[in-house]
Amino acid sequence: MAEQKHPRAYKNIIVLVSGGGTNLQALIDAQERGELGSGKITCVISSKPDAYALVRAKNAGIPSRVIQRKEYPDTAAYSAAMLEAFYEEYADLIVQAGFMTILDETICRAYPNKMINVHPALIPSFCGKGYYGLHVHEAALEKGVKVTGATVHFVNEICDGGPIILQKAVAVQQDDTPETLQRRVMEEAEWKILPEAVRLFCEDKIKVQGSKVLIQA
Ligand code: GAR
Repeated sequence: MAEQKHPRAYKNIIVLVSGGGTNLQALIDAQERGELGSGKITCVISSKPDAYALVRAKNAGIPSRVIQRKEYPDTAAYSAAMLEAFYEEYADLIVQAGFMTILDETICRAYPNKMINVHPALIPSFCGKGYYGLHVHEAALEKGVKVTGATVHFVNEICDGGPIILQKAVAVQQDDTPETLQRRVMEEAEWKILPEAVRLFCEDKIKVQGSKVLIQA
């Protein structure tokens, strides 16, 4: 890993995005309110050149990069390019905020318990391969669950299987569509617990013991 040239007063947060970036916006807003502790969003990396999340980064004056999957022959080469970017950015924390491209295990091995993801369901429900974005809410409605929510967890080798940091439940309404449910899960859960988890990480309040996370008061 590249050596830090100077000691820093804050932790570099790299946010990975692919789409609208409302979770990135929640992080930016929290940072502007001084709620990310010693964390600072220093770079946004998008897997798509036209992601609206890039506009949000620009508006907030945050540098961004685009690293597209189609420019690399396979997942391993793409992951290596991402890893190089993380080193160049001196990443202390990597946040997957609606990042929809698969990375291989070299990433979470290089950043053990230093990469977090927000998932729009209460893990272990509606998670794993194929469960992303609107599909998660379609599956929850199909099953007829009365409660869903969001989870922030560390990323490990298992898809959506890393230690759970925070979860928040959201009630399902009888007339919900995948779109209305997605919006409510974002508003009531994701946009709250993602910045909160980032703050806890940046204040060194998270301890991982085996497969569990302990949060210090
Ligand atoms: C969010 O609901 C996020 O939880 C989900 O994609 C959406 C991105 O929205 N992520 C996943 O499904 C990952 N498995 P955003 O771009 O507006 O933050």
